[in-house]
Amino acid sequence: MSPMSTRPAIAVLLPAVERTPVANELRQAGYEPVAVEDSSELADLLATRRDIAAGILDVERDQEDAGRAWEALHSAGDIPCLLVVHPRTLDRLDLEAGHETDEYLTRPYSAESIRWRVEAMVIRSSAGDGTPVQPDAFDGGEWSRRGQLVAVFNPKGGVGKTMIAVNLAAALTARGKRVLLVDGDTVTGHIPTSLGMEGVGTVADAWRDELDGGPVLSFDEQASSHQSGLKVLPLSSSPIHTELLEPGRVASALARARRAVDVVIADLHPSYSPINRAVFDMADRIMVPVTPDLPAIRAGIKLVEVAEELGVRDRLSLVVNRAQSGVSVPDLERAIGMPAFGQIRSGGMLVVRALNEGRTLVEIAPREKITQEFLALADSLLGMTAKVSEPARQGLRLFGRQMAVRA
Ligand SMILES: Nc1ncnc2c1ncn2[C@@H]1O[C@H](COP(=O)(O)OP(=O)(O)OP(=O)(O)O)[C@@H](O)[C@H]1O
Ligand SMILES: [Mg+2]
Repeated sequence: MSPMSTRPAIAVLLPAVERTPVANELRQAGYEPVAVEDSSELADLLATRRDIAAGILDVERDQEDAGRAWEALHSAGDIPCLLVVHPRTLDRLDLEAGHETDEYLTRPYSAESIRWRVEAMVIRSSAGDGTPVQPDAFDGGEWSRRGQLVAVFNPKGGVGKTMIAVNLAAALTARGKRVLLVDGDTVTGHIPTSLGMEGVGTVADAWRDELDGGPVLSFDEQASSHQSGLKVLPLSSSPIHTELLEPGRVASALARARRAVDVVIADLHPSYSPINRAVFDMADRIMVPVTPDLPAIRAGIKLVEVAEELGVRDRLSLVVNRAQSGVSVPDLERAIGMPAFGQIRSGGMLVVRALNEGRTLVEIAPREKITQEFLALADSLLGMTAKVSEPARQGLRLFGRQMAVRA
């Protein structure tokens, strides 16, 4: 990616009528718009210039050529794409891995809205080389459409997955973010009760209704609101009525929920179930709580090996839970082989009290150190760009699949 000292060039592959107003707007914003006719012109451009920071692609006119253009941009160094689509097409898109850096814009759009999207993509991708992104830089305008999907997982029970998922979600909400907390533990999950919520609808309920002729609802629409503003959605309230929870559908719906909120947090059951594995594939980050004791550390080492095998090793983020209550953080980091993304101390009776009251730590104890650690964890999450995972280089095929119409 080119240095950000001068404003970069933007490749514009749009129908002629849209090209001129968009180019004018970009020029006013200080970018250099470079119009190209098709994917082969784009490839030539990329071969000669290194300062293309983003591409704007029409995906309606010629889907196949758009796929080639998308691949050209991604193989030239993961240059983010703004995909301009009809709302009808957007509704049918299934987000697949490889599209983490992309943005979507639906027609009709104003030239100005393109400018803000481009601004966001350029900021985001320039942060890919280590520069922290100002979280607030994404708050303005209407372009902040893509949230992140964070799975909280460790196959070892009792390490604090649920405690962390709930309180991290609450901390993000306190930071003004829109958050969807999904209780993905269909066996022993109890997030709604631990938040004092009753009569909460589940995904299994909604999909059963759908089979009976009810409406097709997104996860965001299915979720119930907690008093804090946090949205909560359990997959199921019963461990034995989960046959409708087709893993691929669950994972795609989670990924799609990123369009409605800033962060989707999925608290998972401690196992390598098909649902969990499907969620790993879609997650931007897999947050792994580990407690500082030997059995948990051993489980953590094993988890890293399995993640390697599943091809998701680079998405793991270690969170030391009950930090300072056993093995030191540096020793734990060394043993597991990765730096701690965050640390949460033992909250003792405060955690018990929160659970009893059906409330979160930010609500009952905003000044406590453990709450400050949750806020810091939230800030680290917001300050980082969504992970670019999977080699996007499978581009064309992914793109083709992505554009496939859902039945
Ligand atoms: N930092 C902490 N301070 C105090 N109590 C904690 C802390 N972390 C977890 N706990 C408590 O430890 C218990 C286990 O935590 P939690 O249920 O979050 O683990 P889990 O990994 O989700 O377990 P499971 O695998 O069974 O879903 C809970 O009672 C929780 O309140
Ligand atoms: Mg749990």
